[in-house]
Amino acid sequence: MKNIPLLIIIYLLIFTGCGQKNNLSFIVGGTAKTFAFWEKTIKDFKEETGIDVRMIRSATQTEMRKQQIFIALRGRKADPDVMVMDIAWIGQLSASGWLESLNNYDIDTSAFFSNIVNLADTYNNQIIGLPLFIDAGLLYYRKDLLEKYGYPDPPKTWGRLSEMALHIQKEERRNNPDFWGFVWQGAQYEGLVCNALEFFGSAGGGFFSNDNIPIVDSDENIQALQFMANCINKEKISPPNTYTDMKEEEARFIFHNGNALFQRNWPYAGNRHNEEGSPVKGLFGITVLPHFPEGKSVSTLGGWHVGISRHSDRKKDAAAFVKYITSHEVQKDMAVELGLNPGRVDVYESEELKSGFFGALKEVFLAAVPRPTVPYYAQISLVLQKYLNDAIAGNQSPGKALKKAQGEIKEIIKTYEK
Ligand code: GLC
Repeated sequence: MKNIPLLIIIYLLIFTGCGQKNNLSFIVGGTAKTFAFWEKTIKDFKEETGIDVRMIRSATQTEMRKQQIFIALRGRKADPDVMVMDIAWIGQLSASGWLESLNNYDIDTSAFFSNIVNLADTYNNQIIGLPLFIDAGLLYYRKDLLEKYGYPDPPKTWGRLSEMALHIQKEERRNNPDFWGFVWQGAQYEGLVCNALEFFGSAGGGFFSNDNIPIVDSDENIQALQFMANCINKEKISPPNTYTDMKEEEARFIFHNGNALFQRNWPYAGNRHNEEGSPVKGLFGITVLPHFPEGKSVSTLGGWHVGISRHSDRKKDAAAFVKYITSHEVQKDMAVELGLNPGRVDVYESEELKSGFFGALKEVFLAAVPRPTVPYYAQISLVLQKYLNDAIAGNQSPGKALKKAQGEIKEIIKTYEK
């Protein structure tokens, strides 16, 4: 009779469902503002469907978010059921067989940008994700300062950006020693690769040729990487901690506090800069990134997509949630409240979006250049991160760094494509 308490516990566990999870789980990363948005959305969803959703808060940085999701999926955990995934790692997730096909759940996928769905969300003819929002790199500039120093327009070329930054930084430093000409993302992480693709592309270079051959050590790329390094080490228009610390939020804070003339960042930053109480509210403009004289402006295609885990034990409810958060209404709210570019085409037609900056920059998003979509992109990115960062830190010349990167990338491709 000693075992009676234990038997009761086992009975309770089996027959009352204790120990079984009862919430649908949704993993998403971001800032406090993002979490507040999702909390409200989850509440509305519960009101409409009666389904509870538990939000798993993840980091802001893409690598950390990826790690958390990959650990769960590798361990075949039932949580998270629904995931927000970076376009940079969907290829690896789908090739690992970890994403549930959305084809069987009555979700209208035709409302989304078809080129992006084809590029990122289609695997073996199945739709395995949907774009929640699309990112593209943009140039933020201080309208008031350009005007103050007699520049009628933002710069079209990198050379002009550098000239303006040098001049205005020098003048502004008289009163503000913390002032910088140009902030961007140079820390050793995925964001650096996104920035580099823009500099390289706008010199006529890139990572891969049209027929998928790596062209990392091309002359165009070397010239562009030299420019990036010069911003920090020669012209000194970008802070010395660009290569140690500067990620999206670090750059955003500097610009937000009125301490930078130009900033490269994704669209979310504009929404934050325009908030009530922001020191730069109403003082900045947003435009396409500059280019080198022979090239044209290039933005990297970023963005976050939603998908369902193959190991989910609540797939039907998960699909209902995906359908809800990709609906016209929620996508519109996300655009208005968080300043994110909807993955749904029809949302751009709504009154709230037509007039704003979404309408004006829609072309930039449609023309944005993707990172290589191969399943082993993560390995390629790690190599690029290492050598790009080393070059902008001034530890090796752009030519040498890119030559080594090219060699290692070729090796990676050989291993995977044998
Ligand atoms: C943004 C982009 C994402 C990219 C990341 C790099 O979140 O949407 O695609 O990988 O920045 O930091």
